[in-house]
Amino acid sequence: MSHQTIIIVDFGGQYNQLIARRVRENNVYCEVVPYKDAIKAIREKKPVGIIFTGGPASVYQPSAPDIDAAVYDMGIPILGICYGAQLMAQALGGKVERQQRQEFGKIPIQATGGLIQQVVDSDVSWMSHNDQIVQPPAGFATTATSELCPYAAIEDAARKLYAVQFHPEVEHTPFGRAFLRVFLYEVCGCTGDWTTASFVQATIEDIQKTVGEGRVLCALSGGVDSTVCAVLTHKAIGERLTCVFVDHGLMRKNEGDEVMDTLAKEFKLNVIRVNAGERFLAKLAGVTDPEQKRKIIGAEFIEVFTEEAQKLGKMDFLLQGTIYPDIIESGVGDAALIKSHHNVGGLPEKLGFTLLEPLRLLFKDEVRRVGTQLGIPRFIVQRQPFPGPGLAVRCLGEVREDKLFILRESDAILRQEIAAAHLDEEIWQYFTVLPNLRSVGVMGDERTYAHAVGIRAVTSTDAMTSDWARIPYEVLERISTRIVNEVSGVNRILYDCTTKPPSTIEWE
Ligand code: XMP
Repeated sequence: MSHQTIIIVDFGGQYNQLIARRVRENNVYCEVVPYKDAIKAIREKKPVGIIFTGGPASVYQPSAPDIDAAVYDMGIPILGICYGAQLMAQALGGKVERQQRQEFGKIPIQATGGLIQQVVDSDVSWMSHNDQIVQPPAGFATTATSELCPYAAIEDAARKLYAVQFHPEVEHTPFGRAFLRVFLYEVCGCTGDWTTASFVQATIEDIQKTVGEGRVLCALSGGVDSTVCAVLTHKAIGERLTCVFVDHGLMRKNEGDEVMDTLAKEFKLNVIRVNAGERFLAKLAGVTDPEQKRKIIGAEFIEVFTEEAQKLGKMDFLLQGTIYPDIIESGVGDAALIKSHHNVGGLPEKLGFTLLEPLRLLFKDEVRRVGTQLGIPRFIVQRQPFPGPGLAVRCLGEVREDKLFILRESDAILRQEIAAAHLDEEIWQYFTVLPNLRSVGVMGDERTYAHAVGIRAVTSTDAMTSDWARIPYEVLERISTRIVNEVSGVNRILYDCTTKPPSTIEWE
């Protein structure tokens, strides 16, 4: 796939993936590379530009993360952010020191020239640093200052080296997007050649080249990533792709049928549906420990999938919907650990496959755009995250069909009402849980002793942290009334108003 590349050198900062997102939003392809592997990657990939990220260390510590100084003489434009800026300044003969008074948060800065003044004169910028440049290297001009930071931005335009103490990648720096854009387009000469259409075309060709006359097996879950991956691969190799959809009986209401209707009927993919619900429930009988439940489901999945795969005869590749956040590891680790087997853990080893991961370079929203480009319906492309072990992690205590029925029905009502209130794009994830507790109620003139159903609805950007969604009372009222009236066995509705941490999004 030929396109211009920006290499983001990862020094362990917390916003590294965000920098990558910002670059990609500008239709420019980029890769995040741990600092230890960076010089090799730069030599191999010949990027049009380099960005150094922030990081928690101090550049003057003896073991501080560093990069071969040869990088500054390659003629490739470099933008250093925070730690990256300090590292560049020190490497080229400037000085970095810890300051008595530090800057954290929204700090006003004043542009005085250079690249930054092309996009802003004065504004706030997001700062988060203890150290700062106290003397720029020879040849660098000062282009922005703040009250406490005389060198908030410096540059050596002749060598195309730029260093900024603030974080242009975060929303709290209002001119940050524009600043990154001028760096990419005017300094690095980017042309915006990373588009969804070009990705689809190039990936189809890549898959054809890699697979040749081989056969590919796909473990289809019905989620966004595996669906997009299967449709894309089907476009490339048609009939030589076989998908196995293990329906573990722990999906949401009608979900299995919807997956089959879309992929098998509409897109004409060769999908084998294995209805294994009873098998999974039999294995889960009497098990109440959350971790034990997860382990049983994972192991049974591999068992069922392997049986099906063996029936199909020789397959050469295993298609997986691994995406970029699964692959990026913090650059401060010893090596870039690849967590790419997380979806169907253990399968490639067991079945001796070569992995095929056509989405491995995409972020989630890019996967969604590819899905849309391929004509996959919106209800799949915009699907909220759903855990591999399915409703089992929302069904506390023993997993039983009568409890799963309550979960499926109540969850369907919740989803209908959230969609009707147009909240489905605002709320990251929303579902019902069955806490496995019953309480006394009254219905008609009769006493009831029935289940309580919990509603979990959260806002988040990456599922690492989350806040509880402020669903309007009228919407909660409708959901509550409908669930107790329409789902037998339920007489009480609870709303989960805890953040993560200390909670998690799922209940198990
Ligand atoms: P927690 O509960 O850890 O969940 O806050 C964070 C996000 O991950 C999803 N999740 C899973 N996804 N397999 C998955 O593919 C799993 O086993 C799993 N467990 C949790 C959860 O739905 C949320 O979006």
